[in-house]
Amino acid sequence: MDLTGKLAIVTGASKGIGRATVEALLARGAAVAGWGRTAPEGLVHDRFQFFECDVRDEHAVAEALTNTLRELGPEVHVLVNNAGLGIAGSVDGFQTDDWKLMFDTNVHGTFYCSRAVLPQMKKQQLGHIVNIASIAGTTGIENMAGYCASKFAVRGFSQSLFKEVRNDGIKVTSVSPGSTQTNFFDDIPGTAANDSMMSPADIAGFIIYTLETPFNFHVVEVEMRPLQPKK
Ligand SMILES: NC(=O)c1ccc[n+]([C@@H]2O[C@H](COP(=O)([O-])OP(=O)(O)OC[C@H]3O[C@@H](n4cnc5c(N)ncnc54)[C@H](OP(=O)(O)O)[C@@H]3O)[C@@H](O)[C@H]2O)c1
Repeated sequence: MDLTGKLAIVTGASKGIGRATVEALLARGAAVAGWGRTAPEGLVHDRFQFFECDVRDEHAVAEALTNTLRELGPEVHVLVNNAGLGIAGSVDGFQTDDWKLMFDTNVHGTFYCSRAVLPQMKKQQLGHIVNIASIAGTTGIENMAGYCASKFAVRGFSQSLFKEVRNDGIKVTSVSPGSTQTNFFDDIPGTAANDSMMSPADIAGFIIYTLETPFNFHVVEVEMRPLQPKK
């Protein structure tokens, strides 16, 4: 898809992979709606608008879409389901609230936002949903059971939705990054963001690549890792 003049929604736009994706989309000529709890600091652009939206709240998601289409629509071409978080801990001591927070954000948020944009994308017979899963959605990780379970769910959702909407001209791509240098690790004991990790711009660059593929060429799923991670 040629991104010039298209409308893209990115959830969790304040920082990290989401913010880098917003910036990359703007550089490719798209209009971008950033959805999230926090606006990206200092990001001012005539094709960017921030819409307050906690993706855990389906009513907030519906309202954010209404506001986005009113301000930047009427069409919507791209949704990047990026908002997410990980909480570490052994299963026997894991708090129910932490488990639910991860699923509400990573899984239910992805569902709410996808469901919201699909009717318009179907009307257009054109659209692309990119779901940010994780390496943690491809293999189990000690003390990350809840996060891994939520990201396996994102991949399952993605693989199913892709088959459901491909004949409507809608692509669904699941992107599974390994360690990326963001604030994600701030609350994860034992791992700190460092230069051996991929950069948010690396991931954003791949998202642009997959969005710009020719209509009949669909990247369904990709795993990406740093080449030389710090041991
Ligand atoms: N960093 C990695 O190594 C890595 C690897 C694989 C996958 N991922 C995935 O990549 C995605 C982005 O993470 P990141 O690494 O860029 O981390 P990050 O820097 O912590 O950014 C997370 C973003 O998600 C937003 N967010 C969290 N809960 C939200 C909610 N309920 N509603 C709306 N927005 C919400 C945050 O907004 P606030 O600023 O308001 O909190 C923030 O903008 C996540 O899905 C994560 O699981 C990360």
